[in-house]
Amino acid sequence: MGTGERMYELLDFQPTLSDLRMEVLDGLRRRQKQLDCKLLYDERGSALFEEITTLPEYYPTRAEMEILRKHSREMATYIGEKSALIELGSGSGKKVRLLLNELLDPVAYMAIDISKEFLQMSAESLASEYPNLKIVAICTDYTQPFQLPNHPAKKVVFFPGSTFGNFDPPEAERFLRRWSRMLSKGDGLLIGIDLKKSIDGLHWAYNDSAGVTAAFNLNLLTRLNRELDADFQLERFDHYAFYNEVEDRIEMHIRSRLAQVVTVGNVPVHFGLGETIHTENSYKFSVHSFNELAQKSGFTPVKVWTDSTGLFSVHYLEIG
Ligand code: AVI
Repeated sequence: MGTGERMYELLDFQPTLSDLRMEVLDGLRRRQKQLDCKLLYDERGSALFEEITTLPEYYPTRAEMEILRKHSREMATYIGEKSALIELGSGSGKKVRLLLNELLDPVAYMAIDISKEFLQMSAESLASEYPNLKIVAICTDYTQPFQLPNHPAKKVVFFPGSTFGNFDPPEAERFLRRWSRMLSKGDGLLIGIDLKKSIDGLHWAYNDSAGVTAAFNLNLLTRLNRELDADFQLERFDHYAFYNEVEDRIEMHIRSRLAQVVTVGNVPVHFGLGETIHTENSYKFSVHSFNELAQKSGFTPVKVWTDSTGLFSVHYLEIG
């Protein structure tokens, strides 16, 4: 695929997208109203998230980039020669480039994403920058089982961005177990994890002064108005994010400023004063708690790097 000659291979598993209306009404009928955080990422939501990653208060992206800049060469020595790198989610590509530039004679780069459009864009630009590397774009939901292309090289899954923290504990364990089964002995996982820290630092990272995180969260209502013919009035709702110390997670909610009835399509949805829709969890780990979970799920911890302020860690693990 690609312009001109064949530059990358596309494997399209045609992932089925859930029925938005059913999913949303189901979530809004629960006692604690709840919507999946993946719904935050329509086109505007994805652009707002990119903006969040540049905010002074949102440390994870900067901290992970610092780790990758400083330690990619060492990571490459742990990974070894002639590996096939598998990236989950095709982000801006900045992080994977740092790694690809140091990897020793890599044989393939596979990007996995549910959005064919993003996937093709990033595969195309990487294919032109790394002409000697075999590039495979796999369109599927990486949280669900699928058949990885059979490649004789050592496989290393790259999962940056602390997206792992957005899974709830059972999902997180299922995800690690599934990948430990899909990989073979000696294969690796390089994963970014957001660490526990002062509640104050966490609070401001999700309640930034410019209001970008609030716009990102409330954009979900604009999406429901547009795609499901709902009539949420945004000025009647607030962004609400706080650290739940018992669960070790930031919770993001949309809070109703008054008692009101909203219609989604033609279905009425009642909100009490202060009632919330829970839109995201972002779990925070210690190096130890993540390693313990990974070990339980079939991975052997090999090496951990943290940034200079100890906010974020990147873990390299292998299948023993
Ligand atoms: C994508 N994910 C790791 C981000 C996080 O920090 O949980 C999403 C985000 N939500 C609010 N700000 C950023």
